[in-house]
Amino acid sequence: MKLIDFGVREDEKKYIEEWSKENNIEVKIVSDLLTPETVQLAKGYDGIVAYQQLPYDEKIFDTMNEYGIHVLSLRNVGVDNVPFAALKKNQIRLTNVPSYSPEAIAEYSVTGLMALLRNLKHMIRKVDQHDFQWAPDIGRELNQLTVGVAGTGRIGRAAIKIYQGFGAKVIAYDKFHNPELEKEGLYVDDLDTLLKESDVVTLHIPSLGKGNTLINSKSISEMKDNAIVINTARGDLINTKDLYDAVASGKLYGAVLDVYEKEVGVFNSDLSDQEFSDEVLDKVIKSPRFILTPHIAFYTTKAVKNMATVSLNAMVSELKTGTSENEIDLGK
Ligand code: COI
Repeated sequence: MKLIDFGVREDEKKYIEEWSKENNIEVKIVSDLLTPETVQLAKGYDGIVAYQQLPYDEKIFDTMNEYGIHVLSLRNVGVDNVPFAALKKNQIRLTNVPSYSPEAIAEYSVTGLMALLRNLKHMIRKVDQHDFQWAPDIGRELNQLTVGVAGTGRIGRAAIKIYQGFGAKVIAYDKFHNPELEKEGLYVDDLDTLLKESDVVTLHIPSLGKGNTLINSKSISEMKDNAIVINTARGDLINTKDLYDAVASGKLYGAVLDVYEKEVGVFNSDLSDQEFSDEVLDKVIKSPRFILTPHIAFYTTKAVKNMATVSLNAMVSELKTGTSENEIDLGK
């Protein structure tokens, strides 16, 4: 068996190399993303592993089929940039890494919130200028707040545990109820109630697609005054301009954004020597009431190792048995 791994960053290499040695399976490491051009490097290999944020071009899958490669294994969880129809047309199976570290994302939600509650961004900027005054940056305590968790999958449940550990009152919303959380009585009936009753709303759901947002001027008007929004999930869940306006007007306190609706091509790039043309993002970056980071919630040693190795294990299972526990249902 010979595998090829695309879009590999420096920090992933050692885990892939270790896996290759331990399993005695050749893995060619390619730093380029998987495109209609680079897919040609896969000729002669049995399976393709990849991670990228850019959409996967449909032509890639025609070429894979032509080369007799019928499995694409992703090193990440999100499959929103993969055209399922093109996979099905070419009889290609897809796997992901559904749970590389729910704790990494959950811990980051709390990290960002704590920074915002204590106004750390503004305080650090002030101290950098040798302004050591306390006011006006008085903080709030998490143990006095109600945290609304939208989405109670693995990440949402890990977040609930941590928030409860801090003494916050936690409420939750999901279409599908987890029996343990149900027993605890955490669920509210609908999203509107979650928005209305929470001081902090943390999002742990996939993209809604088709331009649908969860946080926009309408839903914000339902929220408590002075509330906080945290998004470590998908940028397109939020209309960022509406959110910015709500913070600027004083309706909301602020937000923690680790994802952004137009992040592709920006996050994880060094644009320090370039003209910055995204006005909304620029305002968010400048505002002390936004903690903005470039999609780093997942970025821990544990998660990166799991992404590298679990994706390869899924590939081996697919190639040996025709399926794996991480295979994505592509629908009819
Ligand atoms: C995913 O796994 O889909 C993520 O959002 C993290 C990604 C930046 C590696």
